[in-house]
Amino acid sequence: MNKENVIIIGSGLAALTLANRLVNFKNVILLTKGNRDQNNSCKAQGGIAAAVSKSDNWKSHMADTMTAGCQYNNKQAVRVLVQKGPNLIRDLVEQGLEFDHDAQGNFLLGREGAHHERRILHAGGDATGKVLMEFMHAQLVDKVAIKEGETVIDLLVNNGRCIGVITSNQEGERSTYYAQHTILATGGCGALYQVTSNDSSVAGDGLALAYRAGASLSDLEFIQFHPTMLYINNQCYGLVSEAVRGEGAILKTGNGHNIMKGVHVLEDLAPRDVVAREIQKHISKGENVYLDISMIVNFEEKFPTITQLCESANIDLAEAKIPVAPGAHFHMGGVKTNQLGETTLPGLYAIGEVACNGVHGANRLASNSLLEGIVFSNLLAEHLLTQTNAQLVRFKIKDPSTSAKNKQLVLPNASDLKKLMTDYVGIERNQSGLMHAKQWLEKYDFLDVNSLDIPYLTNEEIGIINRLTCCWLIVTSALSRTESRGGHFRSDFPYRDSSRWGDQQIIRNNKEVTRFEEMKYIEVGNG
Ligand code: SIN
Repeated sequence: MNKENVIIIGSGLAALTLANRLVNFKNVILLTKGNRDQNNSCKAQGGIAAAVSKSDNWKSHMADTMTAGCQYNNKQAVRVLVQKGPNLIRDLVEQGLEFDHDAQGNFLLGREGAHHERRILHAGGDATGKVLMEFMHAQLVDKVAIKEGETVIDLLVNNGRCIGVITSNQEGERSTYYAQHTILATGGCGALYQVTSNDSSVAGDGLALAYRAGASLSDLEFIQFHPTMLYINNQCYGLVSEAVRGEGAILKTGNGHNIMKGVHVLEDLAPRDVVAREIQKHISKGENVYLDISMIVNFEEKFPTITQLCESANIDLAEAKIPVAPGAHFHMGGVKTNQLGETTLPGLYAIGEVACNGVHGANRLASNSLLEGIVFSNLLAEHLLTQTNAQLVRFKIKDPSTSAKNKQLVLPNASDLKKLMTDYVGIERNQSGLMHAKQWLEKYDFLDVNSLDIPYLTNEEIGIINRLTCCWLIVTSALSRTESRGGHFRSDFPYRDSSRWGDQQIIRNNKEVTRFEEMKYIEVGNG
């Protein structure tokens, strides 16, 4: 019997985890627009959060995830994440993945912002993503051919079902792939902004593909800005992991003022949105902000990746100061899915950062994203392994090479778009800035999806249309949320976030409860 076709779009952890689980049972086609290492998973530094130590438990991890997410999370999704996570991590360890550990074999667990426990597993010091992805590639070698440089330009939809994709290679040659199941694992959209921790290719393509195909999207206004990019002379060199603050580093201004003191009870390890806004406030006044790392012993050994970044930026670590600025890091919103990864369009699924099943709420807890990639890809794999009878539908599409290109489109360039998003849809937004952004975007040719005829456009035009589409979707979502919450801070609306002051203010059913009460509530199955 012919195996079912499964198309996976993307090359990060979620994509490889799914491919790995399906490869013996399905015909897996893995497509990625860049090379296999151009994704955010490979860049991940901090690690994977999981309640694996004796002093920890899933309820505490759940409470931290919900608090960081401003209680906006889908509780069932969080419960699945924190309960299934530790066993799936142990499976990977049994298969040979090595996390950093001491001489007795105990994991060396790190701490990051808004976690009440040390629960961050890491590998190669701060090279967790690299180590993990090398491990995943080694598992897949000779089993799946990853088609690199193959950009999905549109999803094929027939009779209300996604039946495959149209792709373009770097020379602009088009191909069609049909599949019973098509999975978006394209990552987030950080590269829509000027300063970002994301790979430059990660600009929301999956969101635009899903939108054009008619799938629902959700919570797009929630964008997490990581407080600490290594930033000097108007250039971003990459992420400085929160694990550095977890080891005691302190954010200071040039004159030595500790900027988080008195701002939040968790000080330098406060939720990311709080820290990012505080840094931005100082930068806007013309001050430099840096991480004082003088108290961290063996910095180079603990953080080899960040040490390399510092070297590339000519920063002398002997001075123990790393200049930082916030940058776009993670998209909590995305293509709406259930916990199995099913979107509202039959035949189309989404996993990893491009998906939104509500697990992160309004703000993702540090190091929950690799865990999300592992847990929900496994759930989708189990679901797809029960699906064996879907028919493979093919229909004839016009040959793009024989068709005349449609009218000349009016489009902006990517750097003007990045500036717009940074200035008006960034760490802080307000009504007039968002309206300005919306009107600016709507000057261009992208809104009338049916008249676009994507296969007949150049790769560059499609890339800009995807960016415009994502920016417009984020702006319109941000306009419609008239409150400040997590990764959506409206300077024109009062702050209503329940996580502000840490343990004392968790709001449930309009009542203030303590963290202890909340954990009890979770324990008895209400969470
Ligand atoms: C970091 O290492 O600070 C980033 C980890 C994450 O975003 O989960």
